[in-house]
Amino acid sequence: MAFRNLISSGRGAVRTVTINRPDKLNALNRETITELQIAFDQARHDDSVRVVVLAGAGEKAFVAGADIAELSAISPIDAQAFSRAGQRMMRTIELLGKPVIARIQGFALGGGLEIAMCCHLRVGSEKARLGLPEIGLGLLPGFGGTQRLLRLAGRPAALEMCLLGQPIDAHRAHQLGLLSRMVASDKLDDEINALADQLAASAPHAMAGILDAILIGGECPAAEAMDFESKTFALICTTDDMREGTRAFLERRKPVFTGK
Ligand code: COA
Repeated sequence: MAFRNLISSGRGAVRTVTINRPDKLNALNRETITELQIAFDQARHDDSVRVVVLAGAGEKAFVAGADIAELSAISPIDAQAFSRAGQRMMRTIELLGKPVIARIQGFALGGGLEIAMCCHLRVGSEKARLGLPEIGLGLLPGFGGTQRLLRLAGRPAALEMCLLGQPIDAHRAHQLGLLSRMVASDKLDDEINALADQLAASAPHAMAGILDAILIGGECPAAEAMDFESKTFALICTTDDMREGTRAFLERRKPVFTGK
């Protein structure tokens, strides 16, 4: 399907979804949220896609937040629908069952940081600036940002970033784990391509199991989560890729995973 606000492109098993509103610093309006929902639903159901890269067009911003022009005149009923649509789309990314890498070259603010926090790896340039500045608009994050920031970076950082609204630089974001990798701007694509290629060659069912165990298990009480991990482990032991991976180790060769 043709998108108005996204560019979706493929390189082997790597799908890149680029939010393409650079004049508005890739702000998330309703239509973009709907298109992202469709693009990630497609990526989920397309077995040829093993890894997704989520990017923002232009040099300046990954995503500068929800579209403030749309928000400024929103009714409470529409605000709830907007928040729910954004939360649903971001949950789809979080539980995609395939790794998603956020490419953060500049600002990731508000909804931009919220969507990045749903991705499984966040690779940023040294110029990246991350924040939840909604307080400055008399608002709070509405796409799950308070909760994901709390869980990713801890209560002190979540309270400070949400209450003061001040973006943090890439070094601080890296220290907090909000950036999994930080690289020079001109190395960003090389780093992401190398990571994506490594993930694309990995065993997809094992990756899905890891994502489920960490993301779904992480939301359960510990004993339930351990049980979930054991059952997922047992399930993955039925795959051809598990046989191949273990046999290749014993035969001292590189495994070739087929995704079966
Ligand atoms: N929603 C809608 N439009 C946005 C936007 C957003 N979240 N962020 C930026 N834009 C638009 C600007 O209105 C401007 O459009 P215009 O040229 O038609 O006037 C364009 O993007 C460029 O932004 P500008 O503010 O001129 O760039 P800057 O370099 O001076 O500042 C930022 C960059 C990111 C610091 C600034 O744009 C900003 O603070 N954005 C809002 C961040 C935010 O509060 N996000 C949370 C939203 S809930």
